[in-house]
Amino acid sequence: MQTSSGIKDKVVVITGASSGIGEATALLLAERGAKLVLGARRSDRLKALADRIAAAGGEATYAPTDVKRRDDLSNLVKLACERYGKLDVLVNNAGVGPISPLDDLRVEEWEEMIDINIKGVLYGIAAALPIFRKQGFGHFVNTASTAGHKTVPNQSVYSGTKFAVRAISEGLRQEAGDKLRVTIISPGFVRTDFVEAVTNPELRAQLAESREKFAISPDAIARAIAFAIEQPADIDVNEIVVRPTAQG
Ligand SMILES: NC(=O)c1ccc[n+]([C@@H]2O[C@H](COP(=O)([O-])OP(=O)(O)OC[C@H]3O[C@@H](n4cnc5c(N)ncnc54)[C@H](OP(=O)(O)O)[C@@H]3O)[C@@H](O)[C@H]2O)c1
Repeated sequence: MQTSSGIKDKVVVITGASSGIGEATALLLAERGAKLVLGARRSDRLKALADRIAAAGGEATYAPTDVKRRDDLSNLVKLACERYGKLDVLVNNAGVGPISPLDDLRVEEWEEMIDINIKGVLYGIAAALPIFRKQGFGHFVNTASTAGHKTVPNQSVYSGTKFAVRAISEGLRQEAGDKLRVTIISPGFVRTDFVEAVTNPELRAQLAESREKFAISPDAIARAIAFAIEQPADIDVNEIVVRPTAQG
């Protein structure tokens, strides 16, 4: 068993594959010949996506997955190994961003962001790292954000979780040694359902308006992820920041 460059025949697990960036990434990688294992909570959407990939001649399977549950991530990774005999890439993409001013004290939403965006990524690492070590190859692709580079009002907690994803990913890269790769993907404003999770009505309206004005297609992020994956095994693309030209 060995890794190879390119995308064809790579086994790729994607969390948060039921919509937005995860869905676009699944479609692009499947088109390029990867074998996809899709995770998210909405299994009806995962089934529809897997069916769509199969109808186009691609290969995909899925399992209902809540990244807040460590066992769900272990099972998702196990499914990939059982079905395809190896795991080449884990895309830790699932994330939520119900942003709000701290004064709102939407503490449950703070906890949700920490549990999904930080602990979810850690559970993904815990599930895949031992497998990557045993195989002698493997690639983590962790979705951070431009909010993981710069904090602005109303985004303290979300931004904090994405700073954490970047710190954890960089630490992982340094510990990973000469066989495992770690890529951080930091999108700017992308046209997805992300905004719907915002419960503060003024902020949701503002974000929806900005999304209409300048957000970019999730395909742009999928292409960045594909670029990182398709490099030869001795090339580790450490971080890609992709944002709308019009984003300040
Ligand atoms: N859109 C942007 O402007 C933007 C910018 C920077 C970074 N990002 C990051 O990009 C990633 C994808 O977001 P998106 O923009 O594509 O938004 P999206 O369309 O809302 O997709 C979020 C995905 O995460 C999944 N998810 C949420 N909670 C989950 C949980 N507990 N367990 C498993 N899956 C869960 C959702 O699936 P289910 O609901 O079916 O579980 C969905 O598939 C996130 O990490 C986000 O922080 C987005």
